[in-house]
Amino acid sequence: MTCILDVRGLSKGFQMHHLATHMAAFSEISLTLSAGEFLLLKGRNGAGKSTLLRTLYRSYLAQSGQILFHSSHGVIDLARAADVDVTLLRRTEIGFVTQFLSARPRVSAEELVAEPLRQAGRDPAEALEQARHWLAAFGVKRTLWPAYPTTFSGGEQQKVNLARALILPQRLLLLDEPTASLDASARAALIDRLAELKASGTAMIGVFHHPGDVATLIDREIDLTPDAPQEETRTDVVV
Ligand SMILES: Nc1ncnc2c1ncn2[C@@H]1O[C@H](COP(=O)(O)OP(=O)(O)O)[C@@H](O)[C@H]1O
Ligand SMILES: [Mg+2]
Repeated sequence: MTCILDVRGLSKGFQMHHLATHMAAFSEISLTLSAGEFLLLKGRNGAGKSTLLRTLYRSYLAQSGQILFHSSHGVIDLARAADVDVTLLRRTEIGFVTQFLSARPRVSAEELVAEPLRQAGRDPAEALEQARHWLAAFGVKRTLWPAYPTTFSGGEQQKVNLARALILPQRLLLLDEPTASLDASARAALIDRLAELKASGTAMIGVFHHPGDVATLIDREIDLTPDAPQEETRTDVVV
């Protein structure tokens, strides 16, 4: 199988200036991911799941370790790649789906969704047609397509966000709780699209609040919760 991602000894922490301490978000993570594989990222709140995804996407700089991404142009270490290269890879090879849309003033829903295809060099009319197809698939009302998403409800924004994030098949897709607060039909459309992308070879790493939603897609799981036995503090009630 074609290797897409090879992460070696990756660590990330945050300097807590106000506390004059360093806090590890995750340490020494190693994993590999092949084309078409789906890796479920698990762990309790604060285990570092979102931080790991942001580090892989290079929104955060890694503290140490390697993120070897097998791009269509060759292998590149995302932990050290130049910003300009990261920007290019984000256009066509690495996608990130969160719960949140970054809507821009005076950009319509259909333009926002078509943008990734246009940036990848597709014909503008075809890009718009595809955008409408995905807006419909995720259940955004036709009357909203030419409107500005800045005024949409949270759920409508999330659907526009999914259409935009998933319109262009990528080599690597990072998913951070994309189903949170989606209605059932949009959730079903999302799972269908992920299955289609997986079949076409997209490698995925995802955090899901309800992993049962994606049970049929999961190939492997990793848990970021530290190994140390988690002690429960028990308060004995004295009567
Ligand atoms: N930008 C940041 N600055 C400082 N601490 C952060 C930052 N981002 C995340 N953290 C901390 O890192 C830890 C892991 O957070 P996160 O990755 O969001 O956890 P999860 O997604 O698993 O719930 C948390 O303790 C969080 O407070
Ligand atoms: Mg998180």
